[in-house]
Amino acid sequence: MNTSSNAGKKKAVLISGCDTGFGKTLVEKLSKRNDFVVLAGCFTKEGIEQYRGNDNVVAIPLDVTSDKSVAEAKQMVDDALGKKKAYLFGLVNNAGILTRPGPTEWQDVNNYERMMAVNLYGVVRLTNAFLPLIRRSQGRIVIVASIAGRVGLSNNSAYCASKYAVSGYAEVLRRDVIPWKVAVSVVEPGIFGQTGLYKNWQTGLDETWKTLDAGLREDYGEKYYQYQRGLLGYAKKTLSNPDPDIVPEAILEALTCDKPQRRYRVGRDSNTLFRLLPLLPDHVVDFLLTRNPGWLPAAVQQQATGSEIYANDATGSIVAGALLGLSVVGTATVVRGLLSRL
Ligand SMILES: NC(=O)c1ccc[n+]([C@@H]2O[C@H](COP(=O)([O-])OP(=O)(O)OC[C@H]3O[C@@H](n4cnc5c(N)ncnc54)[C@H](OP(=O)(O)O)[C@@H]3O)[C@@H](O)[C@H]2O)c1
Repeated sequence: MNTSSNAGKKKAVLISGCDTGFGKTLVEKLSKRNDFVVLAGCFTKEGIEQYRGNDNVVAIPLDVTSDKSVAEAKQMVDDALGKKKAYLFGLVNNAGILTRPGPTEWQDVNNYERMMAVNLYGVVRLTNAFLPLIRRSQGRIVIVASIAGRVGLSNNSAYCASKYAVSGYAEVLRRDVIPWKVAVSVVEPGIFGQTGLYKNWQTGLDETWKTLDAGLREDYGEKYYQYQRGLLGYAKKTLSNPDPDIVPEAILEALTCDKPQRRYRVGRDSNTLFRLLPLLPDHVVDFLLTRNPGWLPAAVQQQATGSEIYANDATGSIVAGALLGLSVVGTATVVRGLLSRL
């Protein structure tokens, strides 16, 4: 419990994946405040090195896929808490990977295992190790999921599966720890092309393509593969949210505000389109997310045009989409009217 044994001690927060991206920025932001001890879990030696000389940061080697690494990190955390006169108040499960995108048919089981190992089992492993300390402090757990845990994004089946899985895990965890007065927040970033998450996208796609069965390569075709390669640039330039700092800021809020939210949808895509899409009928979402003719594999293109393929769904989808749009606007107008009378 958050008892007198913590009186006079500082709060500490352990964060995984602090080498780059959101984790690194979060460490910088938290360490500037003097009210927290930051325990920065780093996957690489370079990650550890970058925090040398920062008195508010204790860098801890951490591979969330390894029982041994997590047990050693636990020991280092216990030592640091003792030395710094601190208690563990926050755990941020931030580490995550996205490797080898591509059509579902191209994904072998190894790819699912690799992403699950970090994005789901890594979260479970770390949470199990540190929940006893967090329960004692009635602290906070933050889990960085994704919009890919709300809507199935084409050609990202393994990443989406891992993020749906971790979102489900987080929801159950949140309810299970309510009696312990522990708050669990899920952060759902949209696309932020500035972090290291996409660094293996193209090489992963290239490796997959190279090792693909010859029949599959013929069916999909070189043009389709090149189109997929180009999507990364498009996602980073056109779809990316401009300011990646808003993700660590949301995590910071979940750790420090009086009443943390259960869910933080961060980024204009996460907060608008990806709020709406799960409310739409499945066939409307299918229609909206698969409209681009560049998606068509070579063998499909030889048989039919894109409009023939999607023709059956189009009218119904447009009508359903329009009706839903009208009902959303109608509901919003009624709610706004009611609120204005208060
Ligand atoms: N950027 C986005 O568009 C976006 C969108 C939605 C959700 N997210 C999520 O946000 C979180 C942070 O990602 P990011 O965008 O900041 O990407 P990032 O820069 O790649 O950060 C992820 C960090 O996790 C580390 N990591 C990889 N494998 C690990 C392991 N086995 N154990 C511990 N750490 C490991 C990485 O180390 P290395 O650099 O050495 O690999 C890296 O420092 C992830 O969970 C990601 O899925 C990101």
